[in-house]
Amino acid sequence: MSSMISISGLSKAYASGFMALKSIDLDIKRGEIFALLGPNGAGKTTLISIICGITNPSAGQVLVDGRDIRRDYRATRAMIGLVPQELHTDAFETVWATVSFSRGLFGKPRNPTHIEKVLKDLSLWDKKDSKIVTLSGGMKRRVMIAKALSHEPQVLFLDEPTAGVDVELRKAMWGVVRTLRASGVTIILTTHYIEEAEEMADRVGVINKGEIILVDEKTALMQKLGKKRLKLHLQGKVEAIPATLAAYNLELAADGRQVIYTYDTRSEHTGITSLLGDLRAAGIRFSDLDTTQSSLEEIFVSLVRT
Ligand SMILES: Nc1ncnc2c1ncn2[C@@H]1O[C@H](COP(=O)(O)OP(=O)(O)O)[C@@H](O)[C@H]1O
Ligand SMILES: [Mg+2]
Repeated sequence: MSSMISISGLSKAYASGFMALKSIDLDIKRGEIFALLGPNGAGKTTLISIICGITNPSAGQVLVDGRDIRRDYRATRAMIGLVPQELHTDAFETVWATVSFSRGLFGKPRNPTHIEKVLKDLSLWDKKDSKIVTLSGGMKRRVMIAKALSHEPQVLFLDEPTAGVDVELRKAMWGVVRTLRASGVTIILTTHYIEEAEEMADRVGVINKGEIILVDEKTALMQKLGKKRLKLHLQGKVEAIPATLAAYNLELAADGRQVIYTYDTRSEHTGITSLLGDLRAAGIRFSDLDTTQSSLEEIFVSLVRT
């Protein structure tokens, strides 16, 4: 089985009766970076909290590596590392002590070699004896990741890892995440930064008001994003697109006065030049034109509006 996490029919009603998740179905593939994108309040943290056993679902099922998280809580939880949205660390402990202690919480035997590797991977090795309170915000965030990796999880959840973080640190974090993926860890990150999803993800899921409204390969989304629309405002009214222009897949506006051509901006042969010639040959004249580009941002905003 290739799914690392398999979620089916998952719902969450909070005590108030508020439905934070509405029958979520979602599969996370082994070894992928999955970005869960959604506005504040969409249900991202709730979903992660359920998978990590912090919150109980109202209905549905979650399998981690084929095992039910409720029936096999200890085994599945030990496979997961969580970097929560809210940072909290033991300020007066050293980096080494904090990260080593975290490993113990999962009942794993001491393994200084592993802790050393984690700290080195996160560029924290020279800070191993520093008290956390003395570290910069970016370093503290890396300590949180080191804690989450201390027990050698196969899955890592990063809940808004770069919220409120400056651009430089954000880029450094992306580097860290890529290194982790290369080591075989499956990564699920939540974000409301489109750029982060664009940069990092193999696949993107969009969640809004407790519902998954889109799941797609990032590259497929980028292809949609690469599309541009050329709108031609016609001089007169056209009843139908002439057959000679069929290859362009033009859209004719309902009023018959606008023709829309969609093309790929990354292609060298956009077809615009030949289209204009063919329109002329077909006797269609236009008075004006404009182009618009759909961005992931626009796609996202239009998806989560309502
Ligand atoms: N403990 C709780 N009790 C009641 N409502 C909650 C609780 N936690 C979260 N919510 C509500 O559930 C919705 C989803 O919250 P959350 O999962 O934190 O969203 P996100 O992480 O996407 O911002 C929000 O409307 C939030 O106010
Ligand atoms: Mg959240």
